Amino acid sequence: MRLQGKVALVSGAAAGIGAAIATALAAEGASVMVTDIDDAAAAALAESIRATGGSADSLKLDAADEAQWMAAVAATVERWGSMSVLVNNAGIAPTADPIENLALTDWRRSLSVNLDGVFLGVKHGIRAMKANTSTAGSIINVSSVLGIVGTTRAPDYVAAKGAIRLLTKAAALECCQMSYPIRVNSVHPGFIETPMLERGLQNMASLGFFPDANVAAAAIRSLHPIGRLGRPADIASAVVYLASDESSFMTGAEMVLDGGYTAQ
Ligand SMILES: NC(=O)c1ccc[n+]([C@@H]2O[C@H](COP(=O)([O-])OP(=O)(O)OC[C@H]3O[C@@H](n4cnc5c(N)ncnc54)[C@H](O)[C@@H]3O)[C@@H](O)[C@H]2O)c1
Repeated sequence: MRLQGKVALVSGAAAGIGAAIATALAAEGASVMVTDIDDAAAAALAESIRATGGSADSLKLDAADEAQWMAAVAATVERWGSMSVLVNNAGIAPTADPIENLALTDWRRSLSVNLDGVFLGVKHGIRAMKANTSTAGSIINVSSVLGIVGTTRAPDYVAAKGAIRLLTKAAALECCQMSYPIRVNSVHPGFIETPMLERGLQNMASLGFFPDANVAAAAIRSLHPIGRLGRPADIASAVVYLASDESSFMTGAEMVLDGGYTAQ
């Protein structure tokens, strides 16, 4: 119960990494607002958290929509009295086009979720948490190893994830300067076994980069010296730490969870 008394909002929480984060936060005693663009799946996860004794509710939140952010944050504060943890997890896969062929509309669609969505969460998270007195705030932004090093055929995604890394530091410094009780950190997963990765592997195979998704998975796995892909729980346990007061001296930092991907 490392998060007893905390109230968390997680974006993109109905599947993959976000679902593992929401589940882990609740298991450590936090009340969790499970939000997602897929509100039926968010409601199902909140129900399953409650069924195992946790405290959770759900809301529809398209992370690219500022009005929905304002409503979701207000509803979370209304439901539990305050908000102290915000996990900006919602993200979408890259378009897989090379830069020279990438349409501006596709670039903007990707950035609207992958970067605007994080900016909006940080903005409204700070507004909601800056006056907290009993529990300090923690904002955790889900970036990627692809926010630290580049790759091909994902220019929009890499640009957004790199920007999240420095937006995190800018927000952390502003909170310090304003004496707000809010820490802001980023996490950088390697490749994690989620529906997004599953779709990505299928896509790589259908584009002809690999004969099939299994060969694609083996190639991606080989980029991780530790010898396996990541699991959603690998990221969730780091987020629990960043959400908890155990990390109270940590702000503006990046936590890399990548099986050695960026160590080479
Ligand atoms: N899977 C990986 O290998 C990997 C690696 C590094 C970083 N990440 C990042 O982790 C986060 C979660 O990825 P995942 O693999 O669990 O993805 P996923 O596609 O498996 O799940 C993402 C969830 O976000 C929701 N979502 C999509 N668009 C949304 C929007 N506009 N607003 C709100 N919710 C939305 C989806 O409905 C889904 O429930 C993303 O930010 C992703 O970029 C993933």
